[in-house]
Amino acid sequence: MKLWGGRFRKETDSLVNDFNSSIRFDGRMYREDIQGSMAHAKMLAQQGILTWEDQRAIQAGLESVLADIESGAVELTEDNEDIHMNVEALLTQRIGDAGKRLHTARSRNDQVAVDLRLYLRHEIAEVIGQVLDLQEAVAEQAGKYQTAVMPGYTHLQRAQPISFAQHLLAYGAMLERDVTRLEDCGKRMNVCPLGSGALAGTTYPIDRWQTAGDLGFDAPCTNSLDGVSDRDYAIELLSALSILMMHLSRFSEETILWCSWEFKFIELDDAYSTGSSIMPQKKNPDVAELVRGKTGRVYGSLMGLLTTMKGLPLAYNKDMQEDKEPVFDAIDTVKMCLPVFTGMLRTMRVLPDNMRRAAGKGFINATDCADYLTKKGMPFRDAYTVVGRLVASCGDKGKTLEELTLDELREVSPLFGEDVYEALNLENCMSLRSSYGGPAVSETTRQIGELRKFIAAHRR
Ligand code: ARG
Repeated sequence: MKLWGGRFRKETDSLVNDFNSSIRFDGRMYREDIQGSMAHAKMLAQQGILTWEDQRAIQAGLESVLADIESGAVELTEDNEDIHMNVEALLTQRIGDAGKRLHTARSRNDQVAVDLRLYLRHEIAEVIGQVLDLQEAVAEQAGKYQTAVMPGYTHLQRAQPISFAQHLLAYGAMLERDVTRLEDCGKRMNVCPLGSGALAGTTYPIDRWQTAGDLGFDAPCTNSLDGVSDRDYAIELLSALSILMMHLSRFSEETILWCSWEFKFIELDDAYSTGSSIMPQKKNPDVAELVRGKTGRVYGSLMGLLTTMKGLPLAYNKDMQEDKEPVFDAIDTVKMCLPVFTGMLRTMRVLPDNMRRAAGKGFINATDCADYLTKKGMPFRDAYTVVGRLVASCGDKGKTLEELTLDELREVSPLFGEDVYEALNLENCMSLRSSYGGPAVSETTRQIGELRKFIAAHRR
C-alpha cells in the first residue's frame, strides 16, 4: 500500500503510477532529503514532540539509508513515487514505529522545497567556481596580448583599433556580473520553507529557526503558503544561467568567426577541435558551436518553468513537480559547457599578426584622423566631413589614410602636418585610448588586476 493509501479502496493504475512518480529525476536529491529529515527529527526532539530515543533511532536509520543509497545497496523505486517517500519507506523498514513518527509536523510540500533549495545552493557554488576558472583563463590570455592590435567592430564592420586583451576583458566583465548574479540568487534562495507544512503551518510547537539554522539557512521563510508555493529561486537561477549561457554563446560565436579562414585570428588546439568524415582538410570548432547550441536548451528550461508556474493558484500544485527536470538539465548543461569552454580558451593559439593585418585595412584610424584635425582647431563635425572625403578618395586610389602623401592630405585641409603620420599609426591609436576602461595597456593592466582581485575575492 502507498504511504498515503489510507483513504483509497483501489490500487493506483500502473500507468498513473509511472506518470505520477518523480523518483527517476528527484532521486538525485537523496542527500538533501536525508539532511532535511535529520534536522527535522532533531528539532522535534528538542521541542518535546518526539522522544530522544526515537530521534536517535531516526538519525542512525537515516545514516544507514544514506550509506546504502550511496553504495548502491538499496534501490529507489517508482512504487514509492518520489525521493521523500522512498527515504521514509526505507527508514521505516529498518527502524519501525520511530520511522513512522518522522513525518509529524511536516509535509512533502515543505520537504521538497527544502530539498531543492539545499540542492541548488550547492550547485550554484559549483557553477560559480567554474565561472571563476573561466575568468582566470580570460585574465591569463588577456595578459599575453595587451599590445596585440586588432580591429574592434560595430555592425561586424571594422571600427576602431583595440587590443585582443581589451576584447577578452569585455567577457571578463560580463562574467563578473554572472558571478554576482548567481551569488545574489543564492542569497535570496537561502531561506528555509521547512515547517510550512502542507500549506498552513502546524499546531505542533515547532522551532523553525532551529531547523533553518541547522541546515545553514539565514532564516525561515515568513509565510507558510509562500514557503510551499514559491519557485522564484528556481526561475531566478534559470535566468542567471540563461544570461551566463548567452555570454558563452556570444563568445562562442566570435571564436567560430575568429578561427574561420575569413578571419584567422586564432587557431583552436587539435584537442579542442573535430574533423569531418569526408573533407580531409576540415578542422571544426564543434565545442564552440555546441555551447552556442546548448544555450537554446537552457533558455527553453527557463521559458518552460515560467510557463508552468504561470496561473497556478496558491499553494502547492502537482504542476510544480515539473520544476526539477528543467532546473537539473540547465545546471548539468552549464556545468558541462563551462570547463570545456575554459579549456578551449586556454589552449587556443592566438595569431596577432593576422589581427594586425586585418587592422591595417578598413580605415579604423579615421576617427583618429578627425581627432587630429580637431586638436589643431577644426570643429569635430567639420573634421569628420573632411576625413569622410579623404576616405572616399582613398577608396578611389586604393590607398589607406596613412599612405596618402602630405600634399594629398593638404588638398583637403592645410592643418595637416608631418605629425599626422604619428597620429595615424595604429599602435599609437590604440595606446592613446587610455580613457578609463579603454584599450591602452595601462587600462588593460588595470582591468586584469581588478579581474584577478575579483576572482580571489569570490573563490570559496
Ligand atoms: N514529488 C513532489 C514534487 O516534486 C513532492 C511533493 C508532493 N506533494 C504532494 N502533495 N503531492 O513536487
